[in-house]
Amino acid sequence: MNRYDSYFTFEGNDLVCEGLKIDDLAREFGTPLYVYSERGFRERYRELDGALSDIEHTICYSVKTNYNMSLIRVMAEIGSGADVVSGGELYRSLKAGIAPDKIVFAGVGKTAEEIAFGIDSGILMFNCESFREIEEIDRISREKKKVTDIAVRVNPDVDADTHRYITTGKKENKFGIPIEGLTARLAVLKKLEGVRLRGLHAHIGSQITSVSPFLQTADKFVSLIGELHSEGFDSLDCINMGGGLGIVYNDERPFDVGAWAAGIIGRLKPLGLKLVVEPGRYISGNGGIFVVRVTYRKEGGSKTFIITDGGMNDLIRPSLYGSYHRVVNCRLREGSEKVDVVGPVCESGDFFAKDRDITPTKQGDCVAVMSAGAYCMSMASRYNSRRLPAEVLVGEDGRCRLIRRRDSFEDLLRNET
Ligand code: LLP
Repeated sequence: MNRYDSYFTFEGNDLVCEGLKIDDLAREFGTPLYVYSERGFRERYRELDGALSDIEHTICYSVKTNYNMSLIRVMAEIGSGADVVSGGELYRSLKAGIAPDKIVFAGVGKTAEEIAFGIDSGILMFNCESFREIEEIDRISREKKKVTDIAVRVNPDVDADTHRYITTGKKENKFGIPIEGLTARLAVLKKLEGVRLRGLHAHIGSQITSVSPFLQTADKFVSLIGELHSEGFDSLDCINMGGGLGIVYNDERPFDVGAWAAGIIGRLKPLGLKLVVEPGRYISGNGGIFVVRVTYRKEGGSKTFIITDGGMNDLIRPSLYGSYHRVVNCRLREGSEKVDVVGPVCESGDFFAKDRDITPTKQGDCVAVMSAGAYCMSMASRYNSRRLPAEVLVGEDGRCRLIRRRDSFEDLLRNET
């Protein structure tokens, strides 16, 4: 165990959260079950907030990582803003009490309906990904007789050195507007009366474990801002440095957020700029686990399979990206064995762990997939007509409450006509 798992630890032989045995929660709420630690979410937010205290800043929790309303509400209570990428995420964030003027709206394909919703809600700004999109925001704003603040998402062509599916700031990625010649190209914005350029934005990738790509991006921003200010873009007062901070799943060694913050602040503060950041995984990733029950043990031709009642539809990261999640039996026993921990879905890619040494595990045991707070439940589907899992939240007071009931069979049919 390391400090990044400290919200879920072993006390004696039992995996616990705030003193509650995960085994007991599984019995009370059933499995498969997501369990979240409220302290985990709050502590990570406070840590970032503290690290950025030397610069005027807004932290916009990236709702896509985990959008349960109770969790967004925790973030709202603590003062967080939200990074949203769809009308649905905007709707949730507003309903959960996030202040509209702390919401940034990203995404390469915002529809006219979503743009109008954002404008009507009074969000902080849109992070724009193309000139066509900016023209659309301008058109809709003018119709509404409003001026809308925007940031231009810059593709800085920086290599974030992470999984190729979650690298976003390279030339060949679909995101942002290329940095070359940007100042000249932005001149057209001066003619648009419905938009005001407030910021530059970059999100270069996710699960980044070194500071350097962030600092390279900040350096590029510093020279770009200089050019844009001398071209008369006086309203430009804010930089959005994306999310992307890596966490520990296994043996990663992410950078210290203090060093990350100091590097960014050192570059941006002398220019009098405000900072927006939109972390997701950093806040939610280690604050959740996924708990499943062993349905069968099976000796295959060459392997032992631990077959659980959770599947790739509930937690797809290992199947989709080959991601590593630690897998532990919620009650430790003597010894260990090498197993594949798999689900019941009809695909060979339906696994949580392969060739993994874990506690000897029996039918009926509970197994936890660790670091499952980010991009797990939010990417779950009903594939194989499987019912979406329940979610519970363990408060700092050691009380646990249901924050999403398990789908019923009727839920599966609800929208079909
Ligand atoms: N802002 C923007 C514009 C983003 O595209 C993302 C994530 C974030 C913020 C939050 O990034 P974070 O702090 O969580 O790294 N499903 C993948 C990750 C996809 C990331 C998408 N964008 C996974 O499970 O690893």
